[in-house]
Amino acid sequence: MWADSSGRQARKTPATVRIVMEVLHRNSSEKLVFLETFGCQMNENDSERMLGFLKDIRYSRTATPENADLIIINTCSIRDKAEQKVYSILGRFKELKKENPGLIIGVSGCVAQQEGATLLKRAPHLDIVFGPHNVHKVKYLLSEAEKKKRVVAVEFKEGIDEDEYACERPETGRKAFVSIMRGCDNFCSYCIVPYTRGREVSRRSADIVAEVVSLSGAGAREVTLIGQNVNSYGTGAGGDVGFPELLRKVASVDGIQRVRFITSHPKDISEDLIRLFGAEPKLCRHIHLPVQSGSVRILKEMRRGYTVSEYLSKILLLRQLYPEMAITTDIIVGFPGETDSDFNDTIELVNTVRFDNIFSFMYSPRPGTKAAAFDGQVEPETRAERLRVLQERQKEITAERNMELVGRTMEVLVEGVSKVDPEEISGRTTCNRIVNFRAPLEMNGTLVDVLITRAYANSLRGEQRERSVSCY
Ligand code: SAH
Ligand code: SF4
Ligand code: F3S
Repeated sequence: MWADSSGRQARKTPATVRIVMEVLHRNSSEKLVFLETFGCQMNENDSERMLGFLKDIRYSRTATPENADLIIINTCSIRDKAEQKVYSILGRFKELKKENPGLIIGVSGCVAQQEGATLLKRAPHLDIVFGPHNVHKVKYLLSEAEKKKRVVAVEFKEGIDEDEYACERPETGRKAFVSIMRGCDNFCSYCIVPYTRGREVSRRSADIVAEVVSLSGAGAREVTLIGQNVNSYGTGAGGDVGFPELLRKVASVDGIQRVRFITSHPKDISEDLIRLFGAEPKLCRHIHLPVQSGSVRILKEMRRGYTVSEYLSKILLLRQLYPEMAITTDIIVGFPGETDSDFNDTIELVNTVRFDNIFSFMYSPRPGTKAAAFDGQVEPETRAERLRVLQERQKEITAERNMELVGRTMEVLVEGVSKVDPEEISGRTTCNRIVNFRAPLEMNGTLVDVLITRAYANSLRGEQRERSVSCY
């Protein structure tokens, strides 16, 4: 999300030149924040809101920590040794703090929520620790740190106040994430999210629509509605309408050309939502539906709330109604107790569904989760080998599915200059594939028909066509 044209420019310019340029352009009362974001779309959205709140007090973003007045690391603890990673990143900034004692350093996000005051104890040069429910307090926390107080804000809020979203979005481009809910109540046995993001609560539909109207006014053409389980939007605390109705409202906002959402939980996806793909032309033909495993037994141990056959029947309905829709998923290998036979069931499911793409991970025990205490933890070597086998198989399937698109004309929303060739522009199809083609940059933000001429592992190449044929 941050890789907009200015971001790319910043990466190409040597760091020293960039620092000098930034210092020269800097107004005396302006301050600089260096913000590094890890993890999911929720964290990206939280980072954007931080930048928005900080803009009120004249902070703008810098791409280099060396000239920053404030450094924030927005962390993720979904896998691996997340805590150690944060301490090692913090270590990098120790020298900077020595050189500039006025520098303020903060850690936010899911590791901040998980570790709280421990982070302050273990990193004496750290000033602020705040969790995902306290993003909107960033200005207050900063003012405390300026008084030389070290502060921790990790308390959970029950509901959502719209004040938490009342900020400008300084980095709005053509695409924007809109958070529609917070937290998760599912407690899948391997997952840390319910502990770091708290209970599920939805934002009111009118507030979400107002945010989309304002993003559209700022130039956004595509919005992605985000939540850990968007299919249960409006069913618990907070929301006033169901998810399909929210999608209709958002799609009706002037200027918005495409609507996406992430993440869907297979147990909660309704037929109403599935039918909406046929009725709402702005709704992109792509669904990310994490299955996690192809083994009936492992799915039960994961507490996912659906069986393999229930998952497959939803896929079948989607494929019957929309044969060309892209379906992607998440898969964990090496969950405790997973045998070769369970893993083969996952490979079989992958062969049956032929996902357009998958995000696959080795199981990683997370502190405080049920599965971390399960018997039968799988050896790291076995986990790594299973991941390799799965990824190899999926690579073949993705390549085959990309090849199937050659010769078709597809609608592409232009997002800017291509990352691989500055002479080309780049955009995405409704099924979320990257397409590079030659056309003037003025087309940025418009929908263009493109004939797909070549397929690669992670992108497509094409030629612009007259605006007459349009198969999504
Ligand atoms: N809410 C989403 C997932 C959010 S986390 C859903 O339920 O589908 C993103 C992905 O990280 C998960 O889908 C899962 O595949 C992976 N993940 C979560 N916890 C993990 C763990 N402990 N080890 C390995 N992968 C994990
Ligand atoms: Fe984690 Fe499960 Fe919630 Fe997804 S649904 S965030 S995997 S607990
Ligand atoms: Fe990571 Fe927290 Fe998101 S653990 S995946 S940043 S909800």
